[in-house]
Amino acid sequence: MTALTVNGMAVETTFDGPLLHLLRGELDLFAAKLGCGEGNCGACTVIVNGQAVQSCQTPLWDLEGAEVRTVEGLRADDPVIAAFMEENAAQCGFCIPGILMTVTALRDQGKGGDLLQTLDERHICRCGAHMRILRAARTVL
Ligand code: FES
Ligand code: FES
Repeated sequence: MTALTVNGMAVETTFDGPLLHLLRGELDLFAAKLGCGEGNCGACTVIVNGQAVQSCQTPLWDLEGAEVRTVEGLRADDPVIAAFMEENAAQCGFCIPGILMTVTALRDQGKGGDLLQTLDERHICRCGAHMRILRAARTVL
């Protein structure tokens, strides 16, 4: 049994797999996406205890007492979401929930200077929306 919170909601689960599968398969939180499933694309990124993590590579057994945040937990008027909408910073949108959580974590940590390197290392956007994504992220970091 693992006890954690997801977007402020208490969750107890006997599921014993990656966090991504708990979110999508058991909690009906579909923002985080299954892309590569191997820790390379960043589509599954959520925030755990203040850090952006790839949920496909985060086992439940390591999350006792953890605080998990997903895009569903952001307010509709969150400045990060507003900036991405203002810049039209998406094409198909598949990569965007993960990038939103990475940008949110960087903002909360005051680490805006790491933006370009972090996005380059942790996220793949197949659509080539990089410049709009960067412009949107820069407005909140
Ligand atoms: S699905 Fe997790 S990093 Fe690609
Ligand atoms: S907007 Fe389509 S993958 Fe990034």
